[in-house]
Amino acid sequence: SHKPVIAVIPGDGIGPEVVAQAVKVLIAAAGEDTFEFSQYELGAQHWLDTGEVLSDETLADLATRDAIILGAVGAAPGSSTIPSGLLERGLLLKLRFEFDQDVNLRPSKIYPGVVTPLSQAVLDQGPVDFVVVREGTEGMYVGNGGTLRQGTPNEVATEVSINTAFGVERVVRYAFELATKRSNKVTLVHKHNVLVNAGGLWSRIVDQVATEYPSVEHDYLHVDAATINLAVDPQRFDVIVTDNLFGDILTDEAAAVTGGIGLAPSANINTARTYPSMFEPVHGSAPDIAGKGIADPTAAISSMALLLTHLGYEKEAQRVNDAVSADISERGIAKRSTVEIGDAIAARLA
Ligand code: NAD
Ligand code: IPM
Ligand code: MN
Repeated sequence: SHKPVIAVIPGDGIGPEVVAQAVKVLIAAAGEDTFEFSQYELGAQHWLDTGEVLSDETLADLATRDAIILGAVGAAPGSSTIPSGLLERGLLLKLRFEFDQDVNLRPSKIYPGVVTPLSQAVLDQGPVDFVVVREGTEGMYVGNGGTLRQGTPNEVATEVSINTAFGVERVVRYAFELATKRSNKVTLVHKHNVLVNAGGLWSRIVDQVATEYPSVEHDYLHVDAATINLAVDPQRFDVIVTDNLFGDILTDEAAAVTGGIGLAPSANINTARTYPSMFEPVHGSAPDIAGKGIADPTAAISSMALLLTHLGYEKEAQRVNDAVSADISERGIAKRSTVEIGDAIAARLA
């Protein structure tokens, strides 16, 4: 029988540091013989060495894998050697688009014992546990735009958001389906008071799909108000569905309010299952702490639970989540290294 092959792209900055811990925990949870791993040296150094970000051959090879683990890509903002966006667009977004990873799933919850910036009054409102279903292949991210008269005082720059009925409907449907397995509530976040075209499409599709899910309640927030609610009433959310850019911004905030960016996992799911899905922490390459061995690997490790779920290893996924939860509830404010946290979580699975 076919042993699933997992592509591993450690990437840049803290990417390799957290991915090493994630792979260790994945093996501890699933056993030595469950998966095969295939390593890909892609990222800043590969580009500097070869002038290539991602070759067609490597892309075709990745397409044959059963899943992808990605650490992070990207140079320090302001880097003089790596142009901003080169690796983000040429590698990370390229994989999301080429492998049609339409659902960018980003769960957030406040684990017992976690340190959060939320006030006690907000925490007393109840448990916080929601998921952002971020659209992953459309919106402002498609690179539909350009510049006129670049570098002149009359420069004009455009980034045109693409929203298709097909693309919106599949993620909205995913959100409603997910809500039936959770608390039966979907919140659409958009800005239809200004972005009337895209916002209108998203709203109409939510209303249409909702008729097929009578058990699921749905509501709407403008994105600016949604940022307030994440900070003062996060308990109001169960499943948030939103576009690519709003989802990017909201999930960094969601991470911050639920215990920090070091805890936030994500899955880029090809819902059609014609290509590999990709699992990665929400955070980036964190150049400010790279190489110090202090990055929190928990986000990358929790992403392994999403990978296991996607590949049908429900029990193993649950064990990873339980180990993460136990570790978080006991970690307090003690400072541990990346490897110490990875070892502690892996030890709980031994
Ligand atoms: P970032 O997420 O890398 O870092 C933001 C802040 O969070 C920094 O202070 C960092 O030290 C901290 N942080 C991030 N991960 C952490 C962890 N695991 N443990 C402890 N602290 C952590 O975002 P940024 O600084 O805006 O971006 C840095 C680079 O990463 C840029 O080149 C950006 O394009 C890229 N990026 C890549 C991805 C990705 O590959 N998925 C995601 C976001 C940003
Ligand atoms: C993320 C990142 C990426 C995004 C960047 C690096 C392209 O911020 O995964 O959240 O905007 O999607
Ligand atoms: Mn982001």
